[in-house]
Amino acid sequence: EGLDLSSLLTSAPSPTSSRGRLVEASPRLLVKNSFAGVNFHDTYTRSGLYRKPLPFIAGCEGAGTVLAAEPGAEEWVGQRVVYFDHSGSYSDYSIVQENRSALVPEGLGLKEALGGFVQGLTAHYLTQSTFPLKNEHTCLVLAAAGGTGQLVCQMARLANARVIGVVGSRGKLPLLEGQVDDAVVLEPGEDTRHVVQQVREMTSGQGVDVVYDSVGKDTADMSLQCLKLRGMLVLFGNASGPPPDVSALRLAEAGSVFVTRPILDHYMNTREELDWRAGEVFRWLLENKLHVNVRSFPSLESAPVAHKEIEARMTRGKIVLELEL
Ligand SMILES: NC(=O)c1ccc[n+]([C@@H]2O[C@H](COP(=O)([O-])OP(=O)(O)OC[C@H]3O[C@@H](n4cnc5c(N)ncnc54)[C@H](OP(=O)(O)O)[C@@H]3O)[C@@H](O)[C@H]2O)c1
Repeated sequence: EGLDLSSLLTSAPSPTSSRGRLVEASPRLLVKNSFAGVNFHDTYTRSGLYRKPLPFIAGCEGAGTVLAAEPGAEEWVGQRVVYFDHSGSYSDYSIVQENRSALVPEGLGLKEALGGFVQGLTAHYLTQSTFPLKNEHTCLVLAAAGGTGQLVCQMARLANARVIGVVGSRGKLPLLEGQVDDAVVLEPGEDTRHVVQQVREMTSGQGVDVVYDSVGKDTADMSLQCLKLRGMLVLFGNASGPPPDVSALRLAEAGSVFVTRPILDHYMNTREELDWRAGEVFRWLLENKLHVNVRSFPSLESAPVAHKEIEARMTRGKIVLELEL
């Protein structure tokens, strides 16, 4: 009450991507946030690994109701949405791009939709586009019990691929039940050679077609050694620190393999692409083909605890902050 919605919209800054390239502009929406998603990404902007001009509002993912829209997006007003936008979601209200937002279908809760959004879209592009999995493929998924990892495993299984999951402790193995075909434990600080050996044994000496590695610094070389000839290493995260540079000669030695470092921004490039990915993820959630483990923290004040838990490898799925006024 008393808010001048149109002046809030016109005073918002221009959109940018988190990593360089500008996001194509679209009409903006004023969203009253019910939940903010907590992602490992938020710890990178907080620590300065991903640089943002100061001061900034943390958070890149949220869910709520659209209160107002710029011309061209009026039909969004009153709708329930989830969004991935770098304008700051740890707040009661956010101004976000229409082309970074998705409508939440009837029957799906806002919290569940948020639980499957950034991580779900990421798992979708990794398994459908970066390396499109088929039933003849075997994949290795690192941090398999994490928010993104669990969804990568489930989508790989939906594609009938064989899945080997890696987790950081025995205690996380039950989380992989029904989501992987085989599992390997790699404890913090442990030598990685036994993982390479186990993966080789599990694949008759061949190695895997693709490794989805979100751990980065500590595991990138191990992941290269787990690949079969002409396999693909997908380095999509920095949980242990940024992955090291890989020389062209190292790619030849590893078996003429491919390495890519993708980000979600570049895989939801058009309205059609976002609608395709979000549509499939939401449908799979509604049909119980995908399951997200969502844990709610009661308020914005819980953000520091949530960050500490995610950095200390204590989380078991998706964390969201409840923001209802
Ligand atoms: N490129 C993209 O488009 C994109 C999009 C979304 C997320 N991501 C990346 O995907 C990763 C997972 O994100 P998430 O939000 O779903 O988090 P998460 O997987 O729930 O949590 C990170 C997990 O990484 C593992 N890990 C291994 N070494 C670690 C270390 N030194 N410090 C902390 N964790 C370590 C831990 O699992 P174990 O204890 O089982 O090893 C931990 O639970 C992040 O690196 C994130 O940046 C990338």
